[in-house]
Amino acid sequence: MTAIRIDHVCKRFGPPGAPVVLDDINLDISHGEFVALLGASGCGKTTLLRIIGNLERATSGRVTIMGHDLSESSASQREALSDVGFVFQEHNLLPWRSSLANVVLPLQARRVPRHERREIGERMLDLVGLSAARDKLPHQLSGGMRQRVAIARALSYDPAVLLMDEPFGALDAQTRDGLNIELQRIWLEKRKTIVFVTHSIQEAVFLADRVVVMQGGPGRIVADITIDFPRPRGIEIMASPEFARYIGELRAHLNHQAEAAE
Ligand SMILES: Nc1ncnc2c1ncn2[C@@H]1O[C@H](COP(=O)(O)OP(=O)(O)OP(=O)(O)O)[C@@H](O)[C@H]1O
Ligand SMILES: [Mg+2]
Repeated sequence: MTAIRIDHVCKRFGPPGAPVVLDDINLDISHGEFVALLGASGCGKTTLLRIIGNLERATSGRVTIMGHDLSESSASQREALSDVGFVFQEHNLLPWRSSLANVVLPLQARRVPRHERREIGERMLDLVGLSAARDKLPHQLSGGMRQRVAIARALSYDPAVLLMDEPFGALDAQTRDGLNIELQRIWLEKRKTIVFVTHSIQEAVFLADRVVVMQGGPGRIVADITIDFPRPRGIEIMASPEFARYIGELRAHLNHQAEAAE
């Protein structure tokens, strides 16, 4: 079943004649699939993610989330949106609220009763391994812990689709490896559909079922590569020849675009 359908999406910021940022993007993502979006800075990854999440409108074309067309009625937009969770590079936690209070924020907005909020919030913090940090404020947490709170918050209302924009981009390599393992575990447990934007070829290959490569000026999809490692994947696959082959193949697609730009 298709979770996200992107159909001939184009995006221009500004009037006709302004530069085209996304040019005829077509992509089908299945329910429960983990797709990584890879591409050079400025090629339109965030813009595409924001269009999928209905934070930005496509200039033309159509996006359907779990069968709801984002360009149709606003009721259908709301329904589609409630099925989408966001995790950004900046965690966006409220500095004066504890981990638990941050995690349950979307539930509060959805008028979930207090006792239920607390129960879900504690379960989500447990899922990301942060039960002990329940009452801590964001500034008392490490960068990796903050991102885990942000993931728990995005999962709190049980969205079918999770959109992640370089969620681990600001972290050191070791913390990032740890969170990649953890994200995979959560994904295997919850089977959300995930679209994960990253600059890291390694991270993309480690996490994803499919790596979609974008090229800029104007943004379009130049490769769509299935990653065939069994799950759960351990860090040791990164040392395998198959892993190196995928890295080489993806790097060739990325370099090809760099050469074309010269
Ligand atoms: N609100 C906006 N108004 C005008 N132009 C924009 C806007 N948002 C993005 N752009 C332009 O669209 C292009 C794609 O930007 P986008 O942020 O989607 O790239 P990206 O692939 O996410 O880059 P990065 O990897 O650096 O995050 C860029 O040229 C950017 O300047
Ligand atoms: Mg971006």
